Amino acid sequence: MSAVREDATRSTGRRPGSLFLRWARRSVRQSVRLSARALLLASLAALALPAVGQTPHESPDEAPLTEQAGSHPEADHPSWMQTWQALRACRRMLGGGLLEVPDDRADRFLGKVREDTAHCRGGRRALAFLALDTPWVDWQSYWATGDGASRNARYDEGWIRSLVGGLSERIHANPNARGIDGALLDLEFARVELIKFNLFDNLTYAEYVRGRDGAPGPTLRRWDALRLPPEHPQYEAVGGDGEQRCRGELIRHRTLTGICNDIDNPRMGATRTPFARNVAFTETFPDQGHTELTRNRHGERLDLMTPDPQRISRELFTRPQSRPELCNQGRGLPGHDPAAHCDYQAAPFFNVLAAYWIQFMTHDWFSHLDEGENDRRRLLPAGCDDPALGCRPEDRFQPSLVAEDSPPASFDHAGERYLERAHRTFDNTVTAWWDASQIYGYDERSRRRVMRDPEDPAKLRLEPLADGADGYLPLFGPSCETASEGSDCDPIHPVWSGQEAAAFPDNWTLGIAFYHTVFSREHNAFVDAFRERAAATPEADSGLRDPAAPERVIRYAEVSDDELFEAARLVVAAMIAKIHTIEWTPQLLYNEPLYRGMNSNWNGLLAEHPLMDGVMNRVVARLRDSDDDRHANAWYSVLAAGPGIFGMGSERYAGHTVFSPLHPGRRDLWSLADPEHVNGGTNHFGSPFNFPEEFITVYRLHPLVPDLLELRRLDAPDRIAHKVPAVEGFRAGASDLLRDHGVADWALSLGRQRLGLLTLGNHGQFLQNLPMPHLEGSGRLDIAALDIIRDRERGVPRFNEFRRQYGLRQLTGFDDFIDPRLPADHPERRRQAELVERMREIYGQHECDADKIISHAYRDAEGNYPNDCLGHPDGSLVDNIEDVDAVVGWLAEPVRPHGFAISETQFVVFILNASRRLFSDRFFTSSFRPEFYTQLGHEWVLNNGPDGVVMEAGTPNGHRQPVSPMKRVLQRSVPGLAEELEPVINVFDPWARDRGDYYSLEWTPRPGAESDDAFAD
Ligand code: HEM
Repeated sequence: MSAVREDATRSTGRRPGSLFLRWARRSVRQSVRLSARALLLASLAALALPAVGQTPHESPDEAPLTEQAGSHPEADHPSWMQTWQALRACRRMLGGGLLEVPDDRADRFLGKVREDTAHCRGGRRALAFLALDTPWVDWQSYWATGDGASRNARYDEGWIRSLVGGLSERIHANPNARGIDGALLDLEFARVELIKFNLFDNLTYAEYVRGRDGAPGPTLRRWDALRLPPEHPQYEAVGGDGEQRCRGELIRHRTLTGICNDIDNPRMGATRTPFARNVAFTETFPDQGHTELTRNRHGERLDLMTPDPQRISRELFTRPQSRPELCNQGRGLPGHDPAAHCDYQAAPFFNVLAAYWIQFMTHDWFSHLDEGENDRRRLLPAGCDDPALGCRPEDRFQPSLVAEDSPPASFDHAGERYLERAHRTFDNTVTAWWDASQIYGYDERSRRRVMRDPEDPAKLRLEPLADGADGYLPLFGPSCETASEGSDCDPIHPVWSGQEAAAFPDNWTLGIAFYHTVFSREHNAFVDAFRERAAATPEADSGLRDPAAPERVIRYAEVSDDELFEAARLVVAAMIAKIHTIEWTPQLLYNEPLYRGMNSNWNGLLAEHPLMDGVMNRVVARLRDSDDDRHANAWYSVLAAGPGIFGMGSERYAGHTVFSPLHPGRRDLWSLADPEHVNGGTNHFGSPFNFPEEFITVYRLHPLVPDLLELRRLDAPDRIAHKVPAVEGFRAGASDLLRDHGVADWALSLGRQRLGLLTLGNHGQFLQNLPMPHLEGSGRLDIAALDIIRDRERGVPRFNEFRRQYGLRQLTGFDDFIDPRLPADHPERRRQAELVERMREIYGQHECDADKIISHAYRDAEGNYPNDCLGHPDGSLVDNIEDVDAVVGWLAEPVRPHGFAISETQFVVFILNASRRLFSDRFFTSSFRPEFYTQLGHEWVLNNGPDGVVMEAGTPNGHRQPVSPMKRVLQRSVPGLAEELEPVINVFDPWARDRGDYYSLEWTPRPGAESDDAFAD
């Protein structure tokens, strides 16, 4: 996502644009000889350039949509007059100048724009959306941000283009480009605000606010709290009680516990560091009434079990079934009979592979549990008691493990009082890095579960298939907790026995087993390719270097098994991050602005434009080192979209001019001996990286999983041969299912089936009744209810304050959960209205008091903070909208940008944290180098494999693009899928679906798949 915003939605009392101009003048003064306006143009030009590619080495391009298809029948056909009026609105919008980043979090942009802006970027339809005055972001109504119907047909049909020619593409005179770029500008502005207002680290917050030695907090890059403690085995190695800096073996590869990713802050992101927060500490744990604001907001209405989580689950989350006897609470019919049927609301553009992918990711990023357990000492009741609702009062859960719950210290700064941390903190029990720790381990115990191939210790152990190819991971034997003394056992929780051996074995499912197998095969494929190269050219330079002797070339023949294993881990982790960023996410958020935004996070918008790329690289480098927090942070993230986050700082050139990267004789001076080169591409924005609790909240994505998995066979792919209950694919059952039917059949099956929409009334029945024998009581658990309990235990603000904290507009009552664009008799509108009624019953109403201020995170146009009445008359009966749990709220959001599988509230959490996950990781920025990855590994990540870039035929959604990274991984690891994968563009889009010309969400079969059973009704 790129560039700055040329909108001004409210008066700030300052000359419009002055902040940006002042910033630009100062920050480029010394060596970047560009005027502020040139910089602004540069960043806007980033958007005007052809669409981004997937790797710096190839030349993907954008093909005009109209070259491939006629315009959509429902596309916008504005008249000449309307077109002229929209252009005049653009002039007024530009005259309004740039929006300033506010000083106060209460004055944020909220994703809402002025009338001129909406008019310019989306014409009449955008104005109509604005007029509805909903809480939801405006960019979704701009031209070309949806499917073909969202485009301006006048332009697509050619007459505007014939008027202004190719120039219209470049200078964004054309309406579709205005819409897409406008959306990107809104999103980027949101990211700038999020970086400024939403970083709250539990270990270092006081320094963030107060700064240190005259340097503002947001520019700090080193923190004492992230030193290794004296009891740490590597304490002396990193410098003991002197200045700590990682060196030598500790910086060569991703370490087991995640230490030394940042070489100056050894403990950052390591296993068992506390989760961070994205919301003000004072607003956490609202049910405990720590502040007047939280007391005003919620009265005495809340506690851990009020309103009752299982009642919420049963009434608001349950999937209604039209034929309950065919669903059987998610257990289907005997013999996996395909006549079984469980209703679920399915997303036409996202498949079940995508559901399990994100579960696979979460196991890498975060966990609150210790070896699959919470606090073992206690079991608390988790069930409601109304039999009519299917309550199970005998359900039990273990309370969360708490790291710190003593009252937090506070400090004063600039006349305000702050808490140093949240009232309670929780440790992330895995590494926070995107380091594939779910496969490779995150502590000693988990590492013991990772099996290496005895024949080639650089490889992971996989049992061979009949043809000798890599097959399946070995299975765990009995747990050492239950095995008799002296017998063989594994270091595992007893319930994991019989499932595949892996570092992170908790909540093992069919999809998790699938991905562990596929990426273990990918690991071994890399080792094989490396060994092949080594055999062919044993004396050649492998690219790898040892920091102890950085100049010494390491030849292929010299690379040890362990070195190769660790290089393979780097490659696998980077491939996973790449797949997630440019394949999974653009399908989760299936529209053009997000396609561009995600690709720019990875490659940059300027991949094909070396001049601009070079210029931006230098500007970004200067900004990072600036000690002005506004420069260093706000605009850094904006301009980083030019060169991209991935690989940032991984090349260094001599000279001080912006043109030195372009010099024909340029030499990359990056050196392993220089710590500034090794670490210098990262940026933590003044707040050390770890996931915030709020991130976990929005990844509670359990509705994605259907109750029944539709099993197909490669020899008859259109037929659903069996319906297998997802619950059978849990723990050891997952491993049995994977082996019984094979990786190829499961890839096909999960690839063709749609996943469950994230909405109310769409949780799997099986998850509400999940077998949990070790929890006694009913021996079952309602995971949907547990999701709510966990958020409350961890003090996540309730939905409305959650939105305010993240810079989104608040709701004023439950009726905001009804989509006002739907006709009154529309079935979906009726469904929403029914759910709203149930919410009103569960969460209730109260007589409001306008004297009670409920938040300082938001101010209305008159400058007033919201009060208990939220705009309703004082003393009137209002909805307890403030009490709605975050998960309930984001599931209930009725209006979403086109192709969004998640809600806008989830998305905003993602904007901030997804890019930080890349910005903070040295191995994705300045240490993305052959010295760590090997030459082959470096190429592998850039090209999606060992054999160069392979381009996709055609121009999907108007883009020329390489064959996607996950498709390449599947082609390598499951060769039997070759034919089935042929027409697949994005592995996470249902494989038999016709993708249409431009972000279609239609559920229609692609040519050749017309007889697929899934399209039968
Ligand atoms: C068959 C599929 C799945 C099963 C059986 C399952 C089961 C569970 C269980 C038992 C927990 C532990 C709750 C606790 O004690 O705190 C959990 C937590 C969680 N699950 Fe799932 N899950 C499934 C799929 C998914 C998927 C597709 C996602 C997508 C992201 C997901 C995301 C999460 C998250 C974010 C947590 C909380 C983790 C934490 O607190 O650190 N799960 N799940």
